Order: sequence, then structure tokens, then C-alpha cells
Amino acid sequence: MSAAHPSIVVLTGAGISKESGLDTFRCAGGIWDRVNLEDVATPEGFARDPALVQRFYDDRRRQLVESDVQPNAAHVALARLEREWPGEVLIVTQNIDDLHERAGSTNLIHMHGELLKVRCDACGTIQAWRTDLHVETPCPACAHVGAMRPHVVWFGEMPLQMERIHEALSGCGLFLSVGTSGNVYPAAGFVHVVLDLGDAHTAELNLEPSLGASLFEEQVYGPATEVVPAYVERLLTKGIP
Ligand code: APR
Repeated sequence: MSAAHPSIVVLTGAGISKESGLDTFRCAGGIWDRVNLEDVATPEGFARDPALVQRFYDDRRRQLVESDVQPNAAHVALARLEREWPGEVLIVTQNIDDLHERAGSTNLIHMHGELLKVRCDACGTIQAWRTDLHVETPCPACAHVGAMRPHVVWFGEMPLQMERIHEALSGCGLFLSVGTSGNVYPAAGFVHVVLDLGDAHTAELNLEPSLGASLFEEQVYGPATEVVPAYVERLLTKGIP
């Protein structure tokens, strides 16, 4: 990492995929307005009614696979930043869609898992999955029946790759937060990690102030498809503020 071009960490949330047609969680009419998260996004909910949970993720998986959901200009701008920024650019996404990948981002951590993957709780095998998932589907790896679940991190479970994320946060020169309400930890606490461990510039790009807005040195508000490409263009032409 050169001093002139320090590494950049970008945290993204549901807001970056909103203009691609995927719902957020806490905006008006969001997913948690329609479904009780205790029923579909907790291990207890899965144990209580696995079929309800599978249907919830089947519907979202089908939307991603079958409808014309495409990456938007914000996803594309972040992939451009990864290609053209001379230092490392790491995207840490809370989203379980595949729009960052489809926009061309490769240095990416899905800290809440991925909708297009499933895992077997008997053998731990994680595999790509683009169709409906039934609990009684035998695991293709170990043939165990009844242990297949979405590879998604539920409330009360440990997010993925936290050590790598903390390492990246403590060493970066710019921390960008895009399209997240700052409601859910540990992601909502990443800006504290950056401020405590380093001297990175911090910026929030969102439709409206998040719960942690005041912690960011810079706030840029507007739709992600407008503010993210403009911010990336400024970074690439003028550097980190
Ligand atoms: N452009 C930019 N930001 C937007 C847009 C848009 N077009 N539309 C909405 N937003 C913003 C909202 O203002 C809100 O602050 O995106 C944010 C979405 O917040 P949430 O719905 O809470 O989603 P997120 O922050 O990603 O939730 C975090 O909570 O339920 C869990 O696992 C789930 O990963 C999710 C986590």
C-alpha cells in the first residue's frame, strides 16, 4: 500500500441494491415490515418452522435468478474503483445478492453470507445453489438428510471473515459506508474501529443520515446510482479528501 494510494474499504448495505429492484429491510415497505425477522432470520425461527424459512429465501433466490435484476451504476462504479485505484479496494457487503460480483468486483467479502449458496450443517460443505431448497434435500456431499440451509448469517450468528475485515479496517486510508442504516452490528461499528485504530478518512454515502452519520467526517446524501459514481470519479481524479 503506497502512502499516496492507501487502501480503501467500502461497506455496503441494502440501499446500494435498492435501485436494482431489491428491497431494503427498514425503509418504508421494507422486508421487515412484511415479515417478522424472528421467524425467518434466526436459528430459532429455522428450528421452529424450517419450511417457512426455506420459502422466504426461495422467493428471494428466485427473484435474483429469474427476474431481470441487474447491477446498477453504483455497483459498477465500485468495480471501476477496484480496477483503477492504485491501492487495494475491499468491498465488505452486508448484502446476500450477487450484484457486486456481476458488476465486476472481485475483492469482496459477504459478511452475512450469500443467497446463491447453501450449506450442510452436518458436514459444513458450502455450495452454489440457484433453485428452491428443501430441508429434506440430501446433502450432495455427505448425503445427510435434513441439514441443508441457506448459506446466510442469521441474527445471533457470527458474521463471516471478521478477522480479515478488522485487519482491513485498521489499515485503510478511506472507509466508505454506502446504503446502510447503521442498525446492525458488527457492521454498524466498523466506523468506530476505523476511528479508534487508524486515521482513515470516513464518508457515508446514503439516501438519508444513518444512525451513525455523525461519526463520519464526510456525508453525501442522494440515491446510490448518483452519489457513488460521482464520489468514485472524484477519488480517481482528485484522490482522498
Ligand atoms: N441509495 C442509497 N441509499 C439508499 C437507497 C438508495 N437508492 N434506498 C435506501 N437507501 C438507504 C436507506 O436510507 C437506509 O439507510 O439504505 C439503507 C438501508 O438500510 P436497511 O434496510 O436497514 O439495510 P441494511 O443497513 O443493509 O441492513 C443491515 O440488517 O436485517 C439485517 O441482514 C440484514 O444485512 C442486513 C442488515
